[in-house]
Amino acid sequence: MQEVTMGENAEMGLPSRLPALLGIRHPIVQAGMSWASSSPALALAVARAGGLGTIAAGPMRPEDLVAAIRAVRAGTDAPFAVNVPLYNKRAAAFLDIAAAERVPVLIGSQGGPRGHVERFHALGAKWLHVVAAPEHAVKAEAAGVDALVVVGAEAGGHPPPNEVSTLVLVRAVVRAVTIPVIAAGGIADGAGICAAFALGAEGAQLGTRFLMTKEASVHEAYKQAVLAAGVGDTTLVGRGALPIRQIRNAFSAEVEAAERAGMAREDWLALIASRSLKDAALSGDVAQGKVEAGQSCGLVQDILPAAEVMARLVAETVAARRRLVA
Ligand SMILES: Cc1cc2nc3c(=O)[nH]c(=O)nc-3n(C[C@H](O)[C@H](O)[C@H](O)COP(=O)(O)O)c2cc1C
Repeated sequence: MQEVTMGENAEMGLPSRLPALLGIRHPIVQAGMSWASSSPALALAVARAGGLGTIAAGPMRPEDLVAAIRAVRAGTDAPFAVNVPLYNKRAAAFLDIAAAERVPVLIGSQGGPRGHVERFHALGAKWLHVVAAPEHAVKAEAAGVDALVVVGAEAGGHPPPNEVSTLVLVRAVVRAVTIPVIAAGGIADGAGICAAFALGAEGAQLGTRFLMTKEASVHEAYKQAVLAAGVGDTTLVGRGALPIRQIRNAFSAEVEAAERAGMAREDWLALIASRSLKDAALSGDVAQGKVEAGQSCGLVQDILPAAEVMARLVAETVAARRRLVA
């Protein structure tokens, strides 16, 4: 890994190697979110505001990914990231596109980084890797990744199946590795960012907060459902398989009723697979679709332009730090 200095981030006043490592102004990452950031708008707005904006390749057609990368690049000189879920059947195509388009930062999730890191380092890119367990963090560091995104149980989308909280998991990973750690799951404001730094993280990745922006490309009904939800209104669907955290709705109630009734595992898995994030995000079916969001939905009370979210996060972090120091 390239040597970088542990500079105090000028505006946030918190120590982080990430601005120098990634060429960003603030160590704030807009999480890759399927559908919500599977277009250029959100990533571009965050990149322009000094954070790391991320295009989520997961549900995209390859030609749309190429267009989105080019649109972000046309709109800013700032670096940005592409998130590639490595289990995805189009992952190889996404990686080829990211290489050909010289994407500056890759965020790999749901799979091992080995092999990919060398390829992208040779192109001058950085590889951040999403992990949800200390042992995976150690393996990813050994594979040469530049930094880790550590996702705890509060997170929207896929939290760790063993449900270890961000508070505990980030601390365990910081103890286990020497590369920079970016905390994720349950962080929605400057106090949360400050807390992550107190644990030893050098950056924060926010999903649900950036989902609630004008630029996030999900149906308006989805945003309103997340806006209305309190901190206790999410649930894990699919415990024991690959769980997702979503807003409680008719679909999650149906899955829970099936579990109580002792439904056979095969039928239960088929029931879970019968609905999708796409149903909610694209079609606006917030009763039957998977309305993925984190527990921090209860901390988010407005839908704002992403630039304003970034400005608020920086100001709130400074205020939270001052409060502690005072
Ligand atoms: C709607 C939604 C879609 C997501 N899609 C992806 C994805 O495609 N790839 C991925 O690695 N993580 C995905 N995630 C997880 C986020 O990248 C991030 O880790 C998580 O949102 C952080 O927790 P928070 O929502 O509490 O901020 C998704 C999360 C949400 C809410």
